[in-house]
Amino acid sequence: MTRPNPNIALYAERRRKLQQQLQRGIAIIPTATEVARNADTHYDYRYDSNFHYLTGFAEPESVLVLIAGEKPQSILFCRDKNLEREIWDGHRYGPDAACEQFGFDAAYPIAQLDEKLAELIADQPALFYPLGANQAWDTRIIQAREAVKAKARSGVRAPSDISDICVHLNEMRLIKDAHELDIMRRAATISCGAHRRAMRHTRPDRQEYEIEAELLHEFCRHGARHPAYTSIVAGGANACTLHYVGNNARLKDGDLLLIDAGCELDGYAADITRTFPVNGRFDSAQKDVYEIVLAAQAAAIAAAQPGNTWNMPHDAAVRVLAQGFIDLKICHGSLDAVLEKESYKRFYMHRTGHWLGRDVHDVGDYKINGEWRALQPGMTLTVEPGCYIRPADDIPLALWNIGIRIEDDILVTASGNEVLTQAAPKTVADIEEVMRNED
Ligand code: GLY
Ligand code: MN
Ligand code: MN
Repeated sequence: MTRPNPNIALYAERRRKLQQQLQRGIAIIPTATEVARNADTHYDYRYDSNFHYLTGFAEPESVLVLIAGEKPQSILFCRDKNLEREIWDGHRYGPDAACEQFGFDAAYPIAQLDEKLAELIADQPALFYPLGANQAWDTRIIQAREAVKAKARSGVRAPSDISDICVHLNEMRLIKDAHELDIMRRAATISCGAHRRAMRHTRPDRQEYEIEAELLHEFCRHGARHPAYTSIVAGGANACTLHYVGNNARLKDGDLLLIDAGCELDGYAADITRTFPVNGRFDSAQKDVYEIVLAAQAAAIAAAQPGNTWNMPHDAAVRVLAQGFIDLKICHGSLDAVLEKESYKRFYMHRTGHWLGRDVHDVGDYKINGEWRALQPGMTLTVEPGCYIRPADDIPLALWNIGIRIEDDILVTASGNEVLTQAAPKTVADIEEVMRNED
């Protein structure tokens, strides 16, 4: 059963703001579709991020319709009450209760969507929806418009402008409000606890999936029933596969373990990576590389300031990493040459972060008119430099298969930034201390 929405005014205000931006026309925002997994079972349902941002309503088979202009309206389509289905699957609000408890102007059964859309679309000058996000919805919405066009001789007109509602929603979602930040802080805190728990349970000969289980246990027992993305639990060489999710190898004494995992809480993601020694003590080569990545991350976090552009944290991290790779003798030549030729990319091939929010790789443009955009208070991003050294003849043996990433979640504030994931141990000393006090 979805709980009544305790924040009716907050969601209504988001809808009002969007209506003001649109100025005119109709917006149609469907939630996500349930997906069958196999016979009689479905993948865990996850509502659409935009739909939930504007409604707080978590049931599948729901659609939000907004009318902008002089008489703004906010209309929900949702499942009817159905006592038979509710015995099997649980509570459904039904249109009447949803309308009242979630603060809409009107609500109708989802079965009436096509019929009502034909009325609602008629004579609207513009139609907005998440263009291209879902082929079935593209078809259905174009058909609804065609149905209105077919009645042209009775004097109604179909919207002549069709555009992507996400252009507006992405910018709104990029700046997090206090309610969102409260949830993100809690998601971060739970996820930090999970990383700490993983460190305490790691030891040689455990399986990667045993450590994954510790992460999931910690998420779930704090009310975050799902990870925000599939956890990466990568021992030794597996850490050099950037999207490793096999999580089924035995952890070896002397190897590092890279864990990239964060929970989703109330629709918001945390995204943390920590890398630590399976046996609780960094060896000297591991420590050398780790300190380089940690220094690169510190430089990038220091650059995540309001007014700085999106790319400045990345540039700061790359500079420190490139110098570190020269010092390790795995890149050669001057710092300028390594940066210019991008030879550091052999060991650091991804970018230093992404927006974070409802989606782990959250919405929002990174460039405006071709230029990296400026960071602003309320933006949330990750900072996640790394170093991945695959075996090769020209690489010292002690560095083979070292894969390290350190990832934190950052809120840009008026005076600088706040590291939301500070509580996950990160220095060599702190990690070794936590691992000494194992359960
Ligand atoms: N966990 C996904 C990422 O770090 O981007
Ligand atoms: Mn990550
Ligand atoms: Mn990330």
